[in-house]
Amino acid sequence: MTKQFAVIGNPIEQSRSPELHHAFAAKTGVDLNYKKILAPLDGFENTAKDFFEQGGAGMNVTVPFKEQAFALCDQLTERARIAKAVNTLWMQDGKLFGDNTDGQGLVAAIQALGWNLANSRILILGAGGATRGVIYPLMQAGAKQIVIANRTLARAQQLVEDLKEAVPRAKLQAIGLDQLSGEFDVVINATSASLTGDTLQLPETLLFHHAYEMAYGKSSSFLDQAQARQVPSTDGFGMLVGQAIEAFSIWNGVKPELKDFL
Ligand code: ATR
Repeated sequence: MTKQFAVIGNPIEQSRSPELHHAFAAKTGVDLNYKKILAPLDGFENTAKDFFEQGGAGMNVTVPFKEQAFALCDQLTERARIAKAVNTLWMQDGKLFGDNTDGQGLVAAIQALGWNLANSRILILGAGGATRGVIYPLMQAGAKQIVIANRTLARAQQLVEDLKEAVPRAKLQAIGLDQLSGEFDVVINATSASLTGDTLQLPETLLFHHAYEMAYGKSSSFLDQAQARQVPSTDGFGMLVGQAIEAFSIWNGVKPELKDFL
C-alpha cells in the first residue's frame, strides 16, 4: 500500500520536500506519496491530528510550527528534546513520536563537502531556533568549541545556559555580533538576515576557513563576503537534503546517499 507523507507549514508553497522525498523513493524503491499541507496559523494541532487519523505515516514540520510539534509529541528523541523543536513526526504503537533532523542534516552536508568537524572551532551567527537545533549534533560530530554570536547578546547567553546540561559549558561561548574576532574552521550563518534581505557585516579581524549559509535560494551578504575572501562556501541546500534523508530513513528504514541528490 502506498504510504502517505506530508510537510506542514505556513506558508508551504515554497517547500521542496515533496520533490526530494519522491526522488528518494524512486531511488530506493519505496512506494509513497508526499504532499504539502497548508495549516492555518491557529490550526496546526488539528491539521496534524487529522492527517495521522486518516492513516498518514509521517509528517515533516516547517516554519512556524516546529515548537508546537515539539509540544504535541508523546515521545521525543534526545536531539529533539535538546532542540525543543520537532521537524519529523510519525506514529508508533499508538504514540506520536518526534525527532529533529535539521542538525544532523547540517552535519551530513558539511561532511559531504569534505570540511572537517572533528576538533573544529565553529562560529554560529544567530541564536534563534535554527541555532538551537544544530549545536548538539555539531558537538556530537566532534566540534571542540562553538561560539554563538548574536545581535542580542542576552539571547545567545540564554541559549548557552539552556544547553549546559546537554553540552559541556566550556565548549560553548556566547558573544555579541559586534564582538566578532578570532579564527574559526567553519562559520555558519543561522540568522534570518538573508531571508529578510538584511546585510551582515563580517569584520576583518574575523578569520574563517569555510562558510555555511543555512538559507538557500536567496542572495546572501554573508556568502558574498566569504566569496570575496575566496573562502570555500555554500548555501543551505545540502542541509535541506540532509534533513530530508534523515527523516526518510527514520520512516522507511532505508537511507539514500546524500551525494546522489546534491
Ligand atoms: P530561526 O528560528 O530561523 O532561528 P528566529 O528565532 O526568529 O528564527 O531567530 C532569528 C535570528 O536571526 C536571531 O538570532 C536574530 O537576532 P536577534 O536575536 O538579535 O533578533 C537574527 N537576526 C535577524 N535579523 C538579523 C540582522 N539583520 N542582523 C543580525 N542578526 C539578525
